Amino acid sequence: MSSSTSTSSSSAAVPIVTIDGPSGSGKGSLCQMLARELDWHLLDSGALYRIVGLAAEKQSVSFSDEAALAKLAANLNVEFRAGQSGEPSSVLLDAEDVSVAVRSETTGTLASKVAVYNGVRDALKDLQRGFAKAPGLIADGRDMGTVIFPAAPLKIYLTASAEERANRRHKQLINKGESVNLAALLEDIKERDDRDMNRAVAPLKPADDAILLDSTGVSIEDVFQQVFDRLKRQLF
Ligand code: C5P
Repeated sequence: MSSSTSTSSSSAAVPIVTIDGPSGSGKGSLCQMLARELDWHLLDSGALYRIVGLAAEKQSVSFSDEAALAKLAANLNVEFRAGQSGEPSSVLLDAEDVSVAVRSETTGTLASKVAVYNGVRDALKDLQRGFAKAPGLIADGRDMGTVIFPAAPLKIYLTASAEERANRRHKQLINKGESVNLAALLEDIKERDDRDMNRAVAPLKPADDAILLDSTGVSIEDVFQQVFDRLKRQLF
């Protein structure tokens, strides 16, 4: 993610590629590979919802108090630091490094709870649009193509079966040294899908003009190649 979150520059002339889809579809890795290859900015919008969830928990804000959560989202003291080559970026909340906490499964669940509120989503809109800066932006999320950047010239909706997504997540967590139960992960993924797809505001769905890609049984390298080829044909 870009280290700057200024909203000063216009997004009009900046090429934007939106990649939406459910958790574990591979969009995070795909977005990082695209941003690195093109040397474009990267918006990890899920990280913003995760940070709001984390901040709410830290400050004991009730997850049913939309107004308080929206206020918190509007006043986030957050900083993203781009990682050195090959290293992930870090996230600071109130100057504290929360990079690890932000990526946990628990924080993902907190994120999807705050993400149902219109007030929270509205409070994060300008911040997200501010990432659109030259030479280009890869935007990763659930509503990038439908709500945040509806005029983006290339929109991808990446999915995979729930079982494959749970398996991928299981492997990632094991590699990180965390012990998690696969069946419980699958349940969490299905629950999160249900909350994201069925919420009233900005539900997870492909934009009408999005290209649908199913990554079940397809390697991330192959997904990258397909999207990169299309991007080159369409935007360059
Ligand atoms: O993509 P990630 O797993 O980091 O997202 C965490 C949660 O944040 C999602 O399950 C979803 O509820 C929410 N989110 C969202 N809109 C986005 C990005 C994430 O509602 N653009």
